[in-house]
Amino acid sequence: MIEICNVTKSFGSETVLRDVSAVLEAGKIYGLVGRNGSGKTVLLKLLCGLLLPDSGEIRIGGAPLKSRSPGEWNMGVLIERPGFLPRRTAFQNLRLLAAVNRRVGEEAIRKAIRTVGLDPDSKKKVGDYSLGMRQRLGIAQAIMEGQKILLLDEPFSGVDTQSLPEMRELLRAQRGPDRTILIATHVREDIDGLCDQVFSVHGGALELLS
Ligand SMILES: Nc1ncnc2c1ncn2[C@@H]1O[C@H](COP(=O)(O)OP(=O)(O)O)[C@@H](O)[C@H]1O
Ligand SMILES: [Mg+2]
Repeated sequence: MIEICNVTKSFGSETVLRDVSAVLEAGKIYGLVGRNGSGKTVLLKLLCGLLLPDSGEIRIGGAPLKSRSPGEWNMGVLIERPGFLPRRTAFQNLRLLAAVNRRVGEEAIRKAIRTVGLDPDSKKKVGDYSLGMRQRLGIAQAIMEGQKILLLDEPFSGVDTQSLPEMRELLRAQRGPDRTILIATHVREDIDGLCDQVFSVHGGALELLS
């Protein structure tokens, strides 16, 4: 599903990823761990085309990423802080975002909001949400269109420890035979028991841990 082929990415004199390669198959959940600043977000941005590699190539379903237009991506992405409109409700925000691709209707949006443990009928404005609630809504946005690839960057940030098992469970439930899920986190324990394989990124190298 996703092939990372000899990818190198530098910023100035800092090489964040040096000639890294990996294959991510459909039907699996992958973890990506590493310290702050190790290059997890950079790798996720490369995988969704927000950044381009200096050399090497990302292939999605066999096709080089750069030759695709955004509409063809079929990726659900949560990277950094999701940019929601603070004066609108969760449902209103996702309805606006869903209007971009026009792939799903209101029922799918409601279902995604319920899936992450929020209330689609709540009148609460997203600006009044806690960080953890916003993070849940970010996950809802990433899954609402049933995309075949899910890239989630630090989905557990701001989520309280008590809610962690539930969050892991809802992500586990997103697994599907033709879906590839990649979850980046700097807290390895957060993805304990969730992933089929875990990669670590450290010193420019990508290594398969388990
Ligand atoms: N757009 C950018 N310009 C310059 N340096 C960047 C840029 N994006 C990331 N970096 C650098 O790349 C390194 C890896 O960053 P990042 O992937 O965000 O780490 P993390 O593993 O914490 O997600 C950091 O040193 C960061 O400063
Ligand atoms: Mg990061």
